[in-house]
Amino acid sequence: MHIGILTGGGDCPGLNAVIRAVTLALHREGAARVTGIERGFHGLLTRRARPLGPDSVADILAVGGTVLGTHNTCNPFKDGATGADRSAEAMDFVRELGLDALVAVGGDGTMAIAHRFEKLGLPVVGVPKTIDNDLPHTERTFGFDSAVAVVAEALDRLATTGRSHGRVMIAETMGRYAGWIALEGGLAGGADAILIPEVPFDAFAVASLCRQREEQGLSTLICIAEGAHARGQGLTVHATIPDSPDPIRLGGVGHALQHVLQPLVQSEVRTTLLGHTQRGGPPTAFDRILATRFGYHAAELVLGRRYGRMVALQGDACVSVALDEVAGKTRLVPLDHPMLKAARGIGISVGVAG
Ligand code: F6P
Repeated sequence: MHIGILTGGGDCPGLNAVIRAVTLALHREGAARVTGIERGFHGLLTRRARPLGPDSVADILAVGGTVLGTHNTCNPFKDGATGADRSAEAMDFVRELGLDALVAVGGDGTMAIAHRFEKLGLPVVGVPKTIDNDLPHTERTFGFDSAVAVVAEALDRLATTGRSHGRVMIAETMGRYAGWIALEGGLAGGADAILIPEVPFDAFAVASLCRQREEQGLSTLICIAEGAHARGQGLTVHATIPDSPDPIRLGGVGHALQHVLQPLVQSEVRTTLLGHTQRGGPPTAFDRILATRFGYHAAELVLGRRYGRMVALQGDACVSVALDEVAGKTRLVPLDHPMLKAARGIGISVGVAG
């Protein structure tokens, strides 16, 4: 057997642990050769691939990013500015390499593209990746724990400087449509208010929370997801990349909130955009283990010729779900999630309604 592996979409801590586990597991069985496709699906169009073996994955477990590189705008079915369908070219390269199957590691966009290749006759196994933790049918994606750890540490730091100066400190996290990073990061970092995309907020209610705390001599720490928005308002888009499968790039809602809050409160309001610090750097131990389990499970699916499936974590078990149940879908924070209940139960404002 000859298996290809690629990493698509934004990078995230733990990708290398998956590449390592897939390569080692398939090599150990002696049944399969592994080829790494470089820069995601783009490598199928640019014909960039290299063999992977135990030596090439020996030192990558703890390394952030992806040694194969990635590409977050390439879609061979709708390429670049022309929108041309170049999937036939990609399939030519697949046949030239002699691949029997492809392991595609990525988020919802990657799963959707992988699913389309499967329909063209390339057997595929998917491995879910996103720091946003927003893929359906899996309770966790690797990379999320690492991102939450970065947010928690940032909030710890913002809290002490914020308290010292009596300021309102706003930290903006990633999370376009789902607020998992802001919710868990905010809980772990002791935020006083957590603003997530699923619950539109009222800036005047946030201001009144800050004023109440000022009256008690307290500073305020706000954790806001980039996709959070005030009631009746849209997303804060900072750039549009027309060729990308999801063309909008978010960012700036923290600063926008700062401008609304500042005239309404006594304290100085300051904003920190955590941005790509949440995605870079080494994976946590949890993510290394989850990524290793996912990689091993993907290899098992390949060896069992159980294609068209994505690895998932349900409870303690690694299972698999059909790719078409996942492709293009997003797992939002349910409004009755126990974590929301616990946060509100200890007085953290989630959503801050008017
Ligand atoms: O999908 C993961 C994610 O981290 C989002 O939370 C964020 O909006 C996006 O990637 C940022 O991607 P880029 O690297 O294109 O700025």
